[in-house]
Amino acid sequence: MKFFIDTASLAQIKEAQDLGVLDGVTTNPSLMAKEGISGAEAVLKHYVDICNIVDGPVSAEVISTDFEGIVREGEHLAGLHPNIVVKVPMIREGVKALKYFSNKGIKTNCTLVFSAGQALLAAKAGASFVSPFIGRLDDVSTDGVQLIEQIRTIYDNYGYGTEVLAASIRHPMHIIQCAEVGADVATCPLSAIVALFDHPLTTIGLQKFLADHAKAAGRAVKA
Ligand code: E4P
Repeated sequence: MKFFIDTASLAQIKEAQDLGVLDGVTTNPSLMAKEGISGAEAVLKHYVDICNIVDGPVSAEVISTDFEGIVREGEHLAGLHPNIVVKVPMIREGVKALKYFSNKGIKTNCTLVFSAGQALLAAKAGASFVSPFIGRLDDVSTDGVQLIEQIRTIYDNYGYGTEVLAASIRHPMHIIQCAEVGADVATCPLSAIVALFDHPLTTIGLQKFLADHAKAAGRAVKA
């Protein structure tokens, strides 16, 4: 399973990249605003800065909601760097644009997906990635991971090439559960990726190994 980081923070992207397990980045307008990035020029520069850190897909979201606007923005974004993936909302005009981009060979990520029917439409329109938001579904008492499983089955039934990108991940168990049901990608906050490292038995075991090694080294010096 590929790991993407879901942030616009260059510091966090660098930290994740240094861990050696990062495959790509997703952003959205809220994440860009959180980093204080505003104004067309600054936003475009920020995407290029991200692409210069990570050698993998970087999702950049369009703001337009009409077909012509989505196409205009998406083509501009795609021209910034070969790793840019145009993030398009799951709306009628968005699905039309997914088809247009697919015919042009421009990579896309269909965002704000909350049902299997929406995921099916995205795949039929040729989206490169589909982003079901599992945390936001869990927030409204609906099983987000179950949706990933459902989409996996549907895509496998028909051999769709669209990658299932589990989004709105909140914690490390979401990552494990998504891996179990066959998500192609999980886009995660840095905290969820880092939490995968931790296990108290690893910490205790390492302390013991190092203490035993120091004791043995001490004995060797005395002897
Ligand atoms: C997906 O690409 C979105 O950026 C993201 O995962 C949304 O997550 P949230 O529900 O934590 O805002």
